[in-house]
This record gives sequence, C-alpha cells and structure tokens, in this order.
Amino acid sequence: MATILVTGGAGYIGSHTVVELVKAGYEPIIFDNFSNSKPAVLARLHKITGKNIPFYSGDIRVREQLEKVFDENKIDAVIHFAGLKAVGESVKKPLEYYDNNVNGSRTLLMVMRDKGCKNFIFSSSATVYGEPDSVPLTENSPVKRANCPYGQTKIDVEYMAEELQKACPDFSVTLLRYFNPVGAHESGLIGEDPRGIPNNLMPYLTQVAVGRLPYLNIFGNDYPTPDGTCIRDYIHVVDLALGHVAALNKLMNVPGVHIYNLGTGIGYSVLDMVNAFSKAIGHELPHKFAPRRAGDVVQCYADPKKAFEDLGWKALKTLEDMTADSYNWQKNNPQGYED
Ligand code: NAD
Ligand code: WQD
Repeated sequence: MATILVTGGAGYIGSHTVVELVKAGYEPIIFDNFSNSKPAVLARLHKITGKNIPFYSGDIRVREQLEKVFDENKIDAVIHFAGLKAVGESVKKPLEYYDNNVNGSRTLLMVMRDKGCKNFIFSSSATVYGEPDSVPLTENSPVKRANCPYGQTKIDVEYMAEELQKACPDFSVTLLRYFNPVGAHESGLIGEDPRGIPNNLMPYLTQVAVGRLPYLNIFGNDYPTPDGTCIRDYIHVVDLALGHVAALNKLMNVPGVHIYNLGTGIGYSVLDMVNAFSKAIGHELPHKFAPRRAGDVVQCYADPKKAFEDLGWKALKTLEDMTADSYNWQKNNPQGYED
C-alpha cells in the first residue's frame, strides 16, 4: 500500500487523518516539530491503531530534514497539514506566518519535485473566500485578498502549488478547503488541544464545560442572521479526515489541480452551537453576549456537492456527534495532552 508523508501529523486534523489512513490501509509517516502539538499524541495513535506510526521530528523549513525522510522511504504522496493557524497571532507576527507557512511549503514542494514525489494534498481553508458575496460557497466562488496574514498564506500556497503543477504537468495537486473542523475521535484519546486560551468556538465551549473557563463570550448578536449570531459550517474532524482518504483514493497519480470544499453544507449559528452543547452536557452552558470580533464574516458555509460527485465523499456525522465527541475528549483530558 502507498506510503503517505503527513506533515503536521501530530496536530489536531493530522492525527485524526493518520488514524483514518491506517484504517484505509495506507502507511502514514508523521513529520512534525511539535510547535503546536505534543509527543504524547504518538502513544495515543498507537493505542487507537495498534501500530507504531513512523515519526520524524523536523521542521518543513529545513530542507535536509525533509530530504532525510524521502531518502529513507519511498513516499507516494504528501498530505501537508504543517503550518501555523491562529488568525490573531498572524496579524501580530506576519513574517513568522509567511516564513512557516509559505517558505515551509515552498521547501516541501521543492524537495517533492527533486525527489520525484508528485502527489500533494494541501490543507487550505474556506478563509480564501473572504467575506462571501453569496452562500453556499462553491469551488468557483471568488478567492479574495485575505483579511489577515494567515489567510493570505493559504492563498499564496494554493497559487504556488498551482504554478508548480503548470510547470510540472504530471503533478497531482489537491487543494482541500476546510470549513470549521470540530469534534474528536470517538475513543476520546485524541482531540483538539490548543495552547493558551482558545481562539476557536468549540474548544472554548469544551473548556467552559469542564470548568477551565468561566463562560463563553458570544462575539456579536446583531448580525443580519435569524438569531443575530454568525453562521458557520462546522464539520466533524473524522469526516474531514475521511475526505483526505477519499482524495487519495481518487486523485493519486491523476495529474492536474483538484480543488474541493470540505464542509457539510449546513450552516449553524453560534447560538445553535451553544444550545447543542448545552444539550450534550445536560445544563445551560454559561455564556454572555460581547461585542463583535474584528474580521468575522457574517456567514460561511459550503456547497459540498463537487466532493460528493467526484470523490464519493460527504460528511456523515451530525451536530450531536460533533458536540458529544468534543465534550468526551475534553472530559477525558481536561488539561489536554499532558506531557
Ligand atoms: P494544528 O496546529 O493542530 O496542527 C499543525 C501541526 O503542524 C502541529 O502539530 C504543529 O506542531 C505542526 N507544525 C507547524 N509548523 C511546523 C513546521 N514548520 N514544521 C513541522 N511541523 C510544523 O492545526 P490543525 O487544526 O490540525 O490544522 C492543520 C492544517 O489545517 C493547518 O495547515 C491549518 O492551517 C489548516 N486548517 C485548519 C483549520 C482549523 O480550523 N483547524 C481550518 C482550515 C485549515
Ligand atoms: C466561529 C464563530 C466567532 C469564539 C477560524 C479561522 C478560519 C479557520 C477556522 C483555519 C464566529 C464565534 C468564537 C468565541 C464566539 N481556520 N466565537 N466566541 O472564525 O469561523 O474560523 O477557524 O483556516 O480561517 O478564521 O472560527 O471557531 O473562531 O469562530 O462567539 O470565544 O464563533 O465570532 O462567529 P472562524 P471560530
């Protein structure tokens, strides 16, 4: 079976994808520098899969560290998760974000080209669509200049990979635009473990639920939506992981640039999420209304039809699965991965 290099494989989405790759018969190799993850995830992956997943400690910006992996293994494809992802931090540290995300991806693509590995799957984001003119978003919706350095790095890497594909037409470049990943593996052994106070809604909800934080601030309740709060397309991380397996199954060695939205197609408001979460924990989750957060788009959800038609993939898990699995992970690991 094919060997897949998973950069950022110790992270939230990467670790869940490694599990689904093993289940599908692929042989993943993890490459990570633990800048936003912990070594403890490797033992958890062993527990879930029963396999010792090969691991390389390294940084995608360091060519020699990447070359070592390609020299020691025949890599059939790369799924590229490694990157920094905090919108607010990217505004404060734009150069660090361009260095890690853009230079890192460029180094990875150079090594792939030079070592003859032609299958590249990239973690892009719905953020490339900016403030949508209309929803749902299809892959043909316009990509706009991003409103933060993080988003711009996603656009830049998309373009860079597309340009490489033009220059090297036998490359298979797949750009997967994720909507809002939430949830955790049903075992409760792996999940999202942000450093410091979470920026994203779901980890904030789970940390309030276990008493690490006192209450949720809902950013804005005067948006032009039915309940006044913003609408997003939350997708269970296991469904998202399976989207990568579907992409590998269909697109490995299929030259071209392949772009897919990975979302459910359903938009939920922040209040919908709070209510669903309250149901999962059996009491109302403490929350307050707060001013709007700068940069938030009003609504953002996918038209996921193309992924279903081409890849046979669609998200199957419900909002209840997402809240229950997120809560289960946080309950079992109130302080996240402890090292
Ligand atoms: P994460 O931070 O949990 O995982 C990223 C992993 O990459 C971490 O383990 C980190 O240690 C590693 N990493 C970072 N820089 C590295 C480097 N230079 N060299 C080697 N390893 C490095 O994030 P995630 O939520 O799993 O996201 C994975 C990818 O998906 C990211 O590229 C992110 O931008 C993208 N994405 C995430 C979301 C989301 O909401 N979680 C949405 C859309 C796109
Ligand atoms: C969701 C909703 C908030 C926290 C971000 C990135 C995006 C992508 C996914 C990587 C919004 C509200 C949140 C809180 C709140 N990442 N909220 N209180 O902003 O849709 O997307 O993560 O590519 O690029 O921008 O996700 O989870 O931060 O917010 O009310 O404490 O929850 O205002 O409406 P977002 P999020």
